[in-house]
Amino acid sequence: MGKNLFEKIISSHLVTGTPKAGNEIGIRIDQTLTQDALGTMAYLQFEAMGVPVVKTESVSYVDHNTLQDGFENADDHRYLQTVADKHGIKYSKAGNGICHQVHLERFARPGLTLIGSDSHTPTSGAVGMIAMGVGGMDVAVAMAGGPFYLTYPKVIRVNLTGRLQPWCSAKDVILKMLQILTTKGNVGTVIEYGGPGAAALTVPERSTITNMGAELGVTTSLFPSDEMTKVFFKAQGREKDWQLLGPDEDAVYDRVIEIDLNSLVPHIACPHSPDNVKTVNEVAGLKVDQVLVGSCTNSSYRDIMMVADMVKGKKVHSHVSFGVAPGSKQVLAMIAKNGALHELVAAGARILETTCGFCVGCGQAPQTKGVSLRTNNRNFEGRSGTKDGQVYLVSPETAVAAALTGVVTDPRDLGLTYPDIVLPELYEIDDTLIVEPSKDQAVEVYRGPNIGEPPKNTAMLESLSAKVGIKVGDKITTDHIMPAGPFLKYRSNVPKYADYVFYHMNPEFAAKCQANREQGKASVIVAGLSYGQGSSREHAALCPMYLGVRVLLAKSVERIHGANLVNFGILQLTFEDEMDYDRIEDGDELAIDHVHQAVEQEIIVVKNVSKGYEFKTKCSLTPRQKEIVLSGGLLNYVAKNTK
Ligand code: F3S
Repeated sequence: MGKNLFEKIISSHLVTGTPKAGNEIGIRIDQTLTQDALGTMAYLQFEAMGVPVVKTESVSYVDHNTLQDGFENADDHRYLQTVADKHGIKYSKAGNGICHQVHLERFARPGLTLIGSDSHTPTSGAVGMIAMGVGGMDVAVAMAGGPFYLTYPKVIRVNLTGRLQPWCSAKDVILKMLQILTTKGNVGTVIEYGGPGAAALTVPERSTITNMGAELGVTTSLFPSDEMTKVFFKAQGREKDWQLLGPDEDAVYDRVIEIDLNSLVPHIACPHSPDNVKTVNEVAGLKVDQVLVGSCTNSSYRDIMMVADMVKGKKVHSHVSFGVAPGSKQVLAMIAKNGALHELVAAGARILETTCGFCVGCGQAPQTKGVSLRTNNRNFEGRSGTKDGQVYLVSPETAVAAALTGVVTDPRDLGLTYPDIVLPELYEIDDTLIVEPSKDQAVEVYRGPNIGEPPKNTAMLESLSAKVGIKVGDKITTDHIMPAGPFLKYRSNVPKYADYVFYHMNPEFAAKCQANREQGKASVIVAGLSYGQGSSREHAALCPMYLGVRVLLAKSVERIHGANLVNFGILQLTFEDEMDYDRIEDGDELAIDHVHQAVEQEIIVVKNVSKGYEFKTKCSLTPRQKEIVLSGGLLNYVAKNTK
């Protein structure tokens, strides 16, 4: 029986376990990446492990918090640069670009494994590697040479047939996927794209699709490494990094989805979820206030050239603010050289920094109730920086159509000639902003006042007595738990950042947890379906842990966030009967007796002390994960097991 591509890469990296759906396996990691918002914690945790030089090829990117509106970000960047220098990590300076765009251009390689403390790390799956978003603690362990553990997923094959028609793009493919699979229920799944339609897509187009696999909630997405991949590597001056790698002809998959690219039309994800997908025609005519092109989803040379070509000789509509953020220094340098930058500026575009910027809520918040069309991957409520901002996700083509007309417009209705975007045979290669490490142990790591020690948890007590600190509904994202935007600058200072846990949902949450602690009680979060959607932001587990949260009771938990809860010693339980979710109220006192024994069982009984009844929950963690939680988190577990 032939192997699919995912199986092939796993079998060459397997350290422990049997690769069968549902089993926990450990794999060797070749590369790691971090970005600055989560990197400081990962490197503080790595330092705590006492390993002098990383065992992986590792890159530390600065792309999230590039606004210097206080000393905090500058302090963090200097810490990141010096810690990278000392421990053998490459450092990609602010201005070099968005981590996933740069990683794809300069580091991604077929057949390798990559984990990154950013949920869109699967972008690099576009070149046939296993690339996964994880928490910073997992990155720290991999850099120290430890295996990465994952539950072996089901593998879905997406068979692309036909060809993308003019004005339809890779973004429309992934929006279609989101319409089919939605953002819920895809935990424990990997998507492998293939077929004649996939073979015709360029690597930048493939990367738009793998990037937004994160919104589906899948473990990763990947394309085979083929002749098209070779063209990309050649253009990046890295042909030696390329190899032919794909599934066997008779590879077996758990499910096959067919998408005919010939019949695909432009799509749009409406507020406030990436799976609230309609055709652009269904929304056409809606007045637009802001249009933004950029982010790790759509900021490649191909995308920015498409935008420049479409606006050439035209003017942006008078009531639209139109921003364009090229994804990397390479893209910016090339459009500056070939004149496309001039076309953008002449048309009235605002050129934004080559960073995450608007995507992470740093700048470009829309007006109150403003309609913003964006090419990024998320439109969760409030992420734009404006609570009632109405963010729609679209392709660059659809974005430009709105920038020119002032209303949502199907780009096919513009009457323009479809631009033939020819990718260069050789991209401009200049790695000036990637600093090679000295690995000199005498390097003094800079620690400004914004850099704190990573807080530690304690081992789980025998009996747990806790109060519900908050009860939330379905699809709570890590943005809901730990707001980004202006608060992100505190990410290296957990005691300060922890004051803002659930800040937009209940600003009293931190104070309530503190009050529970003063009464000798832990705190519990009660949640509905798909808790922890969205990102690998480990602060969404770390800060609640700091506040004394020991249990999450939910209808279901997303993969990366679930792994982060384990790493920080928070027990995640799911309701056996979802009706029990309705019976619990904020402030209820809950208890679990003999916790250590209880988690060994399939069913764990929780007492609602306030209301005087008991209910059943499930703990679906692996034996290793249970041990980590009972130890009070991964740092304690590693320390215990290396004595
Ligand atoms: Fe940055 Fe947004 Fe991507 S925050 S890494 S551009 S999802």
